[in-house]
Amino acid sequence: MASPSGPIMALAPLAPLELVSVALAAIASKKGAYCPYSNFRVGAAILLADGTLHTGANVEVASTPVGICAERCALAPIVAGMERPELPKIRAIAVSTDIWGPSSPCGMCRQMIREFCPLDTPIYMYGRQPLASNQSYPATIPPEEELRICGEPVVMTIGQLLPMSFGPNDMAKREVQTVAQIG
Ligand code: THU
Repeated sequence: MASPSGPIMALAPLAPLELVSVALAAIASKKGAYCPYSNFRVGAAILLADGTLHTGANVEVASTPVGICAERCALAPIVAGMERPELPKIRAIAVSTDIWGPSSPCGMCRQMIREFCPLDTPIYMYGRQPLASNQSYPATIPPEEELRICGEPVVMTIGQLLPMSFGPNDMAKREVQTVAQIG
């Protein structure tokens, strides 16, 4: 549940079919990646408690640091699309890349995910199995086919990916301690 001091409890675990739909959304989102500089496509999908799926892809620009990762591209509009004090109730996040082992969210993305998710929120990381040197994936491959070929994700919680993290609860503590010191 989201609160001013940060989400505390994980929401219900995913049913197998829910996981398939999040995975397919992340895989399909790679088609929106704009990555002419890195040629490294990333797709992300976020499943909310209300059942809606929100997606993003990495968007690069010629001035390299200006680009945005798929995860934050998916997450920020969810938050911005709500009215405060409401915050998203995130059940799961899936990320898809074209490499193996699957790429995990970068440090900046982990920090933003940590802001809005309970620490035991699962992050499913999908990648593509390497092929023999004389083989290559087709330029376009249906997400269902990619999921079938690439199979199992690596799954870790945001708490595992970002241990001993700094988050909204730390800011809340500072306010309490400052008041206590003054008082
Ligand atoms: N990228 C993501 O979209 N998510 C991550 O968590 C890691 C990196 C993107 C950023 C850049 O467009 C490309 O992958 C190569 O770093």
